[in-house]
Amino acid sequence: MRSVLILNAKGGCGKSTLATNLAGYYASKGRRVVLADFDPQESALDWLAARPAERPAITGIAAWRDGFRVPRDADWVIIDSPAAIKGRELSDLVRRADSILMPLLPSAMDVRAANHFIGDLNAVRKVVNREVRVATVANRVREHTLAAAELEGYLARFSLPNGKPFPFLAALRATQNYVWAAERGLSIFEFAPVKTLPDREQWVRILRWLSRSGKSRRARKPG
Ligand SMILES: Nc1ncnc2c1ncn2[C@@H]1O[C@H](COP(=O)(O)OP(=O)(O)O)[C@@H](O)[C@H]1O
Ligand SMILES: [Mg+2]
Repeated sequence: MRSVLILNAKGGCGKSTLATNLAGYYASKGRRVVLADFDPQESALDWLAARPAERPAITGIAAWRDGFRVPRDADWVIIDSPAAIKGRELSDLVRRADSILMPLLPSAMDVRAANHFIGDLNAVRKVVNREVRVATVANRVREHTLAAAELEGYLARFSLPNGKPFPFLAALRATQNYVWAAERGLSIFEFAPVKTLPDREQWVRILRWLSRSGKSRRARKPG
């Protein structure tokens, strides 16, 4: 079982989009997926409610209300989180995760806000102690804009207390494909292969990083 926390204190940066697309991806690959929604707005659970019955099932949990114990037989636990998260709430969530994906909008304001948030995150010592991995994903990037070009430079400045930079995994383009998928309870991996090809290609490094992080964690254990 591996758990991925989608985290950023800012609203609207793409947390639920990342969470639902990951959940749909792993479900479509035959994995047992739990989608735990810690946001009282329940965007991830709304998405799940819209999911057609004939699509591979995903177990949704209203974790913000009911709490949640990780089901043992799950292959992937995807955790969607609320905006403005800090303090105890933040450390409780980080403790549940193997990997953290942080979506970011490509604007100077959002990157600065993320910098403050990363300060909070780094203060949660557990992140480092348990070697929870953190990586950033730029979202809603309009191709050929200055913001897109400068983004990598901005993101290179983010680092953990141990000095290791956060990997910057992907720049996901702004496209109606995500909006369309969100409305229908699908991921971009589950419809119109030709139309979504550029988007699926942008996810390759994210998916590889997530699968690698689980393997290397196991590899570190002796025996
Ligand atoms: N790459 C994208 N292209 C177009 N629209 C997007 C993209 N990512 C997110 N959106 C849209 O932006 C809005 C906010 O995204 P959401 O995932 O709900 O953010 P958060 O969960 O961080 O508040 C949603 O309407 C979503 O469909
Ligand atoms: Mg959300």
